[in-house]
Amino acid sequence: MDKQAITNLLKKMSTKEKIYQLVQLAGGFYSEDEAVVTGPKEKLGISDEAIANVGSILNVRGAEETRALQKNYLAKSDAKIPLLFMADIINGYDTIFPIPLGQGATWNPELIKAAAAVAAEEAAVSGIHVTFSPMVDLVRDPRWGRVMESTGEDTYLNSVYAQSFVEGYQGEMIVGKNVAACVKHFAAYGAPEGGREYNTVDMSERNMREYYLPAYQAALKAGAKMVMTSFNTVDGIPATGNKWLNQDVLRKEWGFEGILISDYAAIKELEDHGIAEDAEQAAKLALEASVDIDMMTSVYAKNLEKIVVKDSEMAKLLDQSVLRILELKNELGLFENPYRGADTEKAKAVILSKDNRKLARKVVSESLVLLKNQEVLPLKSTQKIALIGPYATSPFLSGSWSFSLKTERTVTLEQAFSEVLPAENLLVAPGCLTVEPELIEASFGQYFPAEKTLFDEEGELVKALEAARKSDVVVMAIGEHYLQSGEGGSRGELTLPRVQQKLISAIKALGKPMVGVVFSGRPLELKAELPLFDSLLTVWFPGTEGGHGIADVVFGKVNPSGKLSMSFPYSVGQVPVHYNEFNTGRPLTESGHSKRFTSRYTDMPNKPLFPFGFGLSYTTFSYCDFKLSETQLVPGDKITATVEVTNSGKIAGTETVQLYIRDLVGSVVRPVKELKGFQKIFLQPKETRKVSFEITEEMLRFYTRELTYQSESGEFTVFIGSNSEVAKGINFILCK
Ligand code: GLC
Repeated sequence: MDKQAITNLLKKMSTKEKIYQLVQLAGGFYSEDEAVVTGPKEKLGISDEAIANVGSILNVRGAEETRALQKNYLAKSDAKIPLLFMADIINGYDTIFPIPLGQGATWNPELIKAAAAVAAEEAAVSGIHVTFSPMVDLVRDPRWGRVMESTGEDTYLNSVYAQSFVEGYQGEMIVGKNVAACVKHFAAYGAPEGGREYNTVDMSERNMREYYLPAYQAALKAGAKMVMTSFNTVDGIPATGNKWLNQDVLRKEWGFEGILISDYAAIKELEDHGIAEDAEQAAKLALEASVDIDMMTSVYAKNLEKIVVKDSEMAKLLDQSVLRILELKNELGLFENPYRGADTEKAKAVILSKDNRKLARKVVSESLVLLKNQEVLPLKSTQKIALIGPYATSPFLSGSWSFSLKTERTVTLEQAFSEVLPAENLLVAPGCLTVEPELIEASFGQYFPAEKTLFDEEGELVKALEAARKSDVVVMAIGEHYLQSGEGGSRGELTLPRVQQKLISAIKALGKPMVGVVFSGRPLELKAELPLFDSLLTVWFPGTEGGHGIADVVFGKVNPSGKLSMSFPYSVGQVPVHYNEFNTGRPLTESGHSKRFTSRYTDMPNKPLFPFGFGLSYTTFSYCDFKLSETQLVPGDKITATVEVTNSGKIAGTETVQLYIRDLVGSVVRPVKELKGFQKIFLQPKETRKVSFEITEEMLRFYTRELTYQSESGEFTVFIGSNSEVAKGINFILCK
């Protein structure tokens, strides 16, 4: 429809029809089974009329289901405006890719864009119109369970990935191929106090603008059609009711004209926050804060009418919200084709296709990070291998946000190893449960009834010891339970489950070479395990092709190239720990004070166990001849930084060359390093490549004392290396 037709449609709508467009309910409300609907309906207190006329629905699976739901809805609804279908496609639809924190370790934006395009196509043919992704929240605290959904601790890298995800999902917005992206969670959800889920976020505007907001801006610059509010407070006001954040920054300063959707029940929660006395005030606050869709509460449905009837300004805001929703539906072509893309036949051909699996396998192998290797990896198929640990056989490799829970499609480690090794060379024994049974009961609650496992702990331990004794090398597949991360998955400790620590010690006592393959949704605290393993790989939750991708690296088909996009702490006591910290007035390294009186711990190092940007290879790389083309930079000009990188080992490999810059003096303190560029290069043994980076004045801009975004004259240090602890720098002067 053309713009005028949309405006005419809006004029014809009743106030109730307008309000219902602002309501989003889960698919369960449209189940044929009345018993399924009754509970949630009563809990929400929402009317049948509202249910029959909502504007959008979340998390419905399958082309058949979305088509049937759309058909029945259009038959019953008054205004006959097609539904929008939205879903959490965070790391894939049915072909599940590694969790975003793993994708963040690939430093391969093009690959991530390709993976997002696959996720979009599988979703589009299933009738989904919008994905609640990318999640671009910057994270510095691995206690927070949702670090698994983020691409890490760096503003620049997260911004690069934000663009990749949005371009991958949206492409040319082709029917049956692309879906609209909804960037979340606006804003700064990744900085809850104590790393505790849904907890208070409190930071300066400067800190927010410098580190937390740019990735959302990058997603919007790439064309993201929607934004989702976050649960947390921003400067004392919950994001979902925050006019400064949503009206002044998002709409006026950034010019975003698309839909702003609340997070799940977040409008209702304005009451729990204590910012709204009742639902009516919550509705008013949210609409004034430009929130266009109320996800999964009846606050808008039950309160907006009385608000807009007595307040013409609020009536205008309502019309603006309805118009944004109608415009997205129109842009998606839903008025002409309400079943946009949903095609059961096409879905059969597209979903989990060989090509999609092949891509997923590639993303897995590029997301793995080799943390240690004392000449044990890669393994050979002639070796007798004991594959021990709960993740030896577990199909739960997709993390807590995988939209598809069909684990029978997941390639386990056992399956992948059995494709490489002759039967007599593979001995498999889980050895223990993933976590202590009582932990499942306590931590995962009603959502996942405790697995009453008839697990013979003693017997399984004996089998594992037996397998290890017969082997040449032990591969221990260990890690967190997938529900120990994700939403609601904050942890106060970051160590491996105790049952696994016991198993590792028992197997270690046999004296065999040991490889650790660690599954997790976050950086774990691995200082106790590090000395026990000859080689150590962190594999995140790798998804559908997890077993294959890991086997490709373990058996040397792929040389690992992953680099951490989030620091691994030496201890949870260091957290938040991140590479781009400030120097402080008493830095441990250069301070003139006695060691006692410097910025340090008395009982542990300042540095993380593994820093941002770290990752080993089966080969080695050397850097030499690092230089700058100039020692002075004037705005409009550029300095070229070059270095020669050599593959000094015996096998071909890929290195991610990283560029960091330090602003030595500013009108506010500046980080000791900031990532400003990277290049991923493939080198044959003994091959040398000159790598160049251009440095411009724009790259040196930041939020100054006056909160203006600009660079300041002065001295800078340039670093180029293989991770953020690179020490050797060269200086230049910016002259403005
Ligand atoms: C959840 C999450 C959000 C998700 C939404 C819909 O609570 O916070 O990321 O998109 O609800 O499932």
